Amino acid sequence: MAKFIIKQSGALSGEVEVSGSKNAVLPIMAAALLTEDGCELNDVPALRDVDVMCGLLRSIGSEVGEDYGGNRLLLQTRDIGSVEAPYELVKKMRASILVMGPLLARTGKARISLPGGCAIGARPINLHLKGFRALGAAIEEGNGFVEATADRLHGSNIYLDFPSVGATENIMMAAVLAEGVTILENVAEEPEIVDLANFLNKMGARIKGAGTDTIKIEGVGSLKGARHSVIPDRIETGTFMIAAAITRGSVVIRNVVPDHVKPVAAKLRECGVSIDGGGDSMRVDASGGRLVSTDVKTLPYPGFPTDMQSQFMAFLATVEGPSVVIETVFENRYMHIGELNRMGASIKIEGSIAMIEGGRLMRGAQVLATDLRAGAALALAGLAAEGSTEISEIYHIERGYSDFMGKLRGLGANISRIED
Ligand code: UD1
Repeated sequence: MAKFIIKQSGALSGEVEVSGSKNAVLPIMAAALLTEDGCELNDVPALRDVDVMCGLLRSIGSEVGEDYGGNRLLLQTRDIGSVEAPYELVKKMRASILVMGPLLARTGKARISLPGGCAIGARPINLHLKGFRALGAAIEEGNGFVEATADRLHGSNIYLDFPSVGATENIMMAAVLAEGVTILENVAEEPEIVDLANFLNKMGARIKGAGTDTIKIEGVGSLKGARHSVIPDRIETGTFMIAAAITRGSVVIRNVVPDHVKPVAAKLRECGVSIDGGGDSMRVDASGGRLVSTDVKTLPYPGFPTDMQSQFMAFLATVEGPSVVIETVFENRYMHIGELNRMGASIKIEGSIAMIEGGRLMRGAQVLATDLRAGAALALAGLAAEGSTEISEIYHIERGYSDFMGKLRGLGANISRIED
């Protein structure tokens, strides 16, 4: 299995271009199942997770044309051959469950292997199922699968107990072809929800309110093909913002939507990092003197993203003074802490609260990427740590970051990849 070897890299500098959003493209790919016409997606990131979704769509019956060099995907599903998402794919990538809504809407049936536990908590799908039930589907569970069936879905009023991103997307994709009006309340407001709604509306759906806590969907009889460019990845953007900050560097990041990274920018500014720019680029400059600590609490958008918690914590470990991080979105999303402590950080956990005693000398060590964002946090820590850091199980990182090593090298990072 491949590893990254990262050496202390000094201040990063130069420019880096962010790819299309992983968390936007995956539901949009699933949404292409809603029509028998062809769909063209641009600004698609070249990622393992996108490969897995291509595999899943093929197993369902889609023709998939991959042109990642051109960051393009062509998808067409004339006929649905299988309504199933098998265990081998769901276990590789939880986002596989996002085909459930489209399959149910198009064929009246979907059968999905239950995702089960994963490294960042239990991650149930009860809210997805609550939505499908309210739209008129019968739900049955057994043998590790969950099956939804309906003769015809009908519009409904649905209140989500928590603004789950995946449940909002899945229910929205089911409701677009339902008879009548669906009102979804207390939904996720993430930019990826807005991107999905924009794509669905281009296909002929009637969705209003995406990006607020209430979405109204007027069901339509059928959808047509559409062409769409995926939004920039705000978590990749945030990760490069931290790369600049943790090395006390100064980096220009291109292809960003500054609004989407406001919470991360606000917290970095509190620490003394300067962030400016206009249009679709920003400069993150941490070269100008002493940085101070701050506290962070993760929340659904527009709060501080849970997907940036581990990277920000790695940065806080390098800043003089104590910080507190509270994770409220996922249980058990602190797997990186033990690894950061092995690199010299001093972080204690009490339930969902992490207490960081900043400013300790970080030293390279052999560490393990336990999940995608935890792996990114260790790589960032490695850039700042004395000596050499060896990260194993980097397939987690490569699931979600396009050309992670190449982009960091372009900024002057000393990172290489070895096959074990
Ligand atoms: C998506 C993102 C992931 C991000 C997360 C939160 C994708 C592909 N992944 O994951 O990177 O970390 O949003 O921003 O877009 N929950 C329930 N019942 C449900 C569904 C969720 O209790 O039916 C809980 C989860 O256990 C978790 C919380 O809600 O504690 C948030 O999960 P959710 O927003 O659904 O995350 P995902 O869509 O899985």
